[in-house]
Amino acid sequence: MVPGTFADEIDTQELYKKHCVLCHGEDGKGKTDLGEGLGARDFTEKKFQNSITDEKILKQIENATPERMFPFKDKLTAEEMKALVPVIRAFGG
Ligand code: HEC
Repeated sequence: MVPGTFADEIDTQELYKKHCVLCHGEDGKGKTDLGEGLGARDFTEKKFQNSITDEKILKQIENATPERMFPFKDKLTAEEMKALVPVIRAFGG
């Protein structure tokens, strides 16, 4: 993939809303019924942001443990999954 080619074409907020809000919430805190039930972490916490690498975020989106968070590798393109990493980071402020 050529760096910088996806950012303008993918609406990352829309992607997040469509695929992630259900469990992780609009505010990224995971305080939705499903998120709380499954044990989603609070993306706004420094502790979370400091303990996770961009690679791990991407890996989670691609290959999450299916009982907790379904993997997106068959639902989203590689570019879309990559574009979601900064969305997760943005919750950290
Ligand atoms: C069905 C509910 C559900 C959906 C939908 C979901 N997640 Fe998750 N997610 C979880 C749960 C539960 C965890 C924490 C448990 C775990 O780490 O397996 C998690 C953890 C994460 C983590 C942190 C991994 C870690 O090591 O703590 C990231 C990053 C993440 N999700 C991103 C996303 C993104 C981006 C989307 C949308 C494309 C998404 N999730 C959609 C339930 C969900």
